[in-house]
Amino acid sequence: MSPTNSADMYTDPSLFPGVDVYAVVGNPIGHSKSPVIHQRFAEQAKQKIYYGRIRAELGGFTAAAKSFFAAGGKGLNVTVPFKLDAQEYAEVLTPRAQLAGAVNTLYIHNGKILGDNTDGAGLVRDLLAQGIHIQGARILLLGAGGAARGVIGPLLEQCPKQLMIANRSSAKAGDLVRLFEGLAKTHGVEMTSHSLITLEDQEKIRSPFELVINATAAGLSDESPLSAQAAHNIFSPSSFAYDMVYGKTTTFMQQALQRGARVSDGLGMLVEQAADAFLIWRGAELSQAIDPRLVLAELRS
Ligand code: ATR
Repeated sequence: MSPTNSADMYTDPSLFPGVDVYAVVGNPIGHSKSPVIHQRFAEQAKQKIYYGRIRAELGGFTAAAKSFFAAGGKGLNVTVPFKLDAQEYAEVLTPRAQLAGAVNTLYIHNGKILGDNTDGAGLVRDLLAQGIHIQGARILLLGAGGAARGVIGPLLEQCPKQLMIANRSSAKAGDLVRLFEGLAKTHGVEMTSHSLITLEDQEKIRSPFELVINATAAGLSDESPLSAQAAHNIFSPSSFAYDMVYGKTTTFMQQALQRGARVSDGLGMLVEQAADAFLIWRGAELSQAIDPRLVLAELRS
């Protein structure tokens, strides 16, 4: 019998006696790369696991997660649109999940459902692996939704010089600055908020930036959050433009390339956040056994 019913993509842990079962929950979920990434980590670390996919109905996350854990499932990754539902479902949150306001990793710890968030750590590790100096850098973060909030804490901990958040709605960017101002102060980071339109005014923003991260949902619909003038202002050949979307050269990335900047999509972040989740579930001592950069290279080839 096929372990995963492709009609409803439900991974039932009780079908795998003696094997630790994990899954990613989302909607849609059919094209998720998480199963292949985790199976590769398991092979590298000589761990016997099964990692499947669960497509939950909107409003059906808690029921899906409950039945997964009740059937003996060991851990879940959570993706769009359920990261807030996962935070509510978790009985205990790690400090970084609290700060992110979202959960992408669930497992049972001391008899309780624990919620963590590995997205920001994944982004930082991917940036460092690509040779980007975050410490002392001037960073522009585009977007103020869940994806942006999830990475602010780990970015601040790297002590950049400045973190500017620009969003279509500047009020939402301001809310995030207020939420993180204590952490920014602790790490000596100057944090500011602006509307996307302000990026067209060179004097107001002291551009260009060394690192520009697109955490808006614009890339999903082939749009860029940046007008031509804003892109002209913020990118220079010494900029690095990172789009959290993966699998294509987005309009945002094309704008950066036109200014001579280096670019990256978010596939490395996906692999690195998965590596963090794998080590949380299977044991930090396996960190030397897995090679996320090799898995990333395999996915790209
Ligand atoms: P996510 O969890 O992916 O961050 P979200 O919380 O709905 O999703 O946030 C979407 C983000 O993308 C927001 O910052 C949104 O801007 P607004 O807060 O002003 O709505 C941004 N966004 C979405 N489409 C965009 C577009 N076409 N141009 C610019 N920003 C866009």
